[in-house]
Amino acid sequence: MAHEVTAAILGLGSFVPAKILSNSDFEKSLDTSDEWITSRTGIKRRHIAAPEQSTSDLCLPAAQAALADAGMNAETIDLILVCTLTPDYQMPSTACVLQHKLGLAGRGVASMDLNAACSGFLYGLATAKAYVETGMARNVLVVGVEILSRVLDYTDRSTCILFGDGAGAAVVGKHRPNDPKSHALREVKIFADGTDHQHIIIKAGGTVHPTTARTIDEKMHYVQVAGREVFRFAVTKMVEMIQGTVERHGLTIDQVGRIVPHQANYRILESACERLSIPPEKFVVNLEEYGNTSAASVPLALDEAYRGGQLEPGKKVILAAFGAGLTWASALIDW
Ligand code: UT7
Repeated sequence: MAHEVTAAILGLGSFVPAKILSNSDFEKSLDTSDEWITSRTGIKRRHIAAPEQSTSDLCLPAAQAALADAGMNAETIDLILVCTLTPDYQMPSTACVLQHKLGLAGRGVASMDLNAACSGFLYGLATAKAYVETGMARNVLVVGVEILSRVLDYTDRSTCILFGDGAGAAVVGKHRPNDPKSHALREVKIFADGTDHQHIIIKAGGTVHPTTARTIDEKMHYVQVAGREVFRFAVTKMVEMIQGTVERHGLTIDQVGRIVPHQANYRILESACERLSIPPEKFVVNLEEYGNTSAASVPLALDEAYRGGQLEPGKKVILAAFGAGLTWASALIDW
């Protein structure tokens, strides 16, 4: 009889560029203040890629750290998934460039990008889990990465203050029950509803509005966000996903060690906490330092919590994200 395979996270890593943009830096060029940004979002700083750094450059150290954490060579990877909305190029995929930078070229390792915006890393985990559990791949490298600073209008105070750059990576392979470094991916659930696809959007550069002098003049190559609408959607989905995970698995809140949410806005997390009656300390929050790094946000926070000793063996970890699409996704991990 065939053995049932469960996928697991075997290693984690992350990387952020060195340059920091603080709230007070924005005060110099925009009609905004540290007080407004802090009280409305919780964000204080964000890391910004240097002009010569590309998305795949951010992937590489995060991927290498995840492989080192797993105690594995890059050669053991047979699928690379790069989850991003800010790829190196329109084509080829950033995953192919990363494969080359990892020294894996010539081996035919399948490599592809996946765009589910801020839910991207969780979409990547779901894909990796499916590949591993069906035997279509043995070890999958999943990277959530963004250089959002390249697609922001730094004269628009309502969007540019929200986002930052970074990368987080996981190695997903077959669960080894007796290995404390193997964290079973019990469940990954991914969702989308395209009705409100205009709510978070970069309008130009695709087939609807190919880049022209006009699209550039009209700043259509920058991120646009319907802030209030996304805020309401985010709170509803965070509550629904966390409550759903706890109920489906018959968990008490004590059995949940930490919840790692998408780091978009502290007030979204506060509202979700209140509605769920969950103590805010359960939530891993690092948006003060990085802002919203979209697909990088969950793996960056997960890796920081892991390396900071905040994830207790034997407890559950819940991941939850939402973003453009609109998309939303959650995961339950045995830590
Ligand atoms: O990963 C998903 C990506 N998207 C998000 O996470 C967005 C979720 N939404 C949010 O985080 C919040 O809606 C924002 C932080 C974007 C905005 O906060 P808000 O409390 O919803 O503010 P608002 O959009 O209702 O704007 C209130 C006022 C406006 O002025 P008026 O029209 O009332 O005069 C804005 O122009 O605040 C103004 N404003 C600012 N003022 C100072 C907007 N941005 C700024 C700013 N500094 N940076």
